[in-house]
Amino acid sequence: METHSCNKRVALVTGAAKGIGLACAEAFAKAGYITVMADIEKPVGQAENLDLKGYHAVAWQCDVSDTEAVRDMIDGIVAEYGRLDAAHNNAGIQTPQRPMAEITDKEFQRTIDVDFKGVWNCMKYEIKQMLKQGGGAIVNTSSQGGVTGFPGQAAYIACKHAVIGLTRTAAIDYSSKGIRINAVCPGVILTPMAKELIARNPSLETELIRDIPAGRMGLPSEIAEAVLWLCSPGASFVHGHALLVDGAFSIH
Ligand code: NAI
Repeated sequence: METHSCNKRVALVTGAAKGIGLACAEAFAKAGYITVMADIEKPVGQAENLDLKGYHAVAWQCDVSDTEAVRDMIDGIVAEYGRLDAAHNNAGIQTPQRPMAEITDKEFQRTIDVDFKGVWNCMKYEIKQMLKQGGGAIVNTSSQGGVTGFPGQAAYIACKHAVIGLTRTAAIDYSSKGIRINAVCPGVILTPMAKELIARNPSLETELIRDIPAGRMGLPSEIAEAVLWLCSPGASFVHGHALLVDGAFSIH
């Protein structure tokens, strides 16, 4: 069983300014965690909104592709709050949709730097801290594209597969040290960006849900529930799992 030695558990969510990360930050904050909301642009208003609801959220600026910035962020969180109990490495970008050979080296490199190296960087320093404090839980955001292919997204999909490989291997490395490392694989999620796209092109919704047996897109809050559970003592024997939350898209 996981135990937390201080009353205030501390959670970090990257890519917390919007979409899935914002919903996950709200879920952690609502569950009583001091929640550090990290994003490439400091999400000040988003953290203030959660504070206004009576939760404890803190905005942090960090580009997850920058190794030193990630190290400084983890050091800063520990200096301020003493520990890090849960971390959701969620920040991600998509490559412009094009066949593989047409993706430029620059696009490839930035995708790798954020979607793969970003998770690597965060895990590395989170694990170092969790080893010092005797445990913790990490969830990395992969995708349904971490277990399937998707046209025109070779670099992104390769990173999402890599995140699962990294999650599984690190889970083996650290499971005996009280650190549980898992991944969540969202399906098509109705984020604000998706809502905007659908508002501009209503037929897009039908196209998006055509291949989802559940007949609808997921909600950011449904990913948040899964992430929160993976970080909870209720998931104490769950290690190295890639949890699909995709309305059965990837299995049909
Ligand atoms: P989003 O674009 O709404 O949010 C991503 C957040 O990450 C943004 O706030 C952005 O500023 C931040 N970010 C981007 N680069 C960053 C960097 N270098 N350092 C720190 N923060 C950075 O995306 P969404 O949809 O919420 O996706 C979140 C995660 O879920 C991503 O990893 C994405 O690949 C994954 N995902 C999303 C799906 C969806 O349908 N929305 C489906 C499957 C996976």
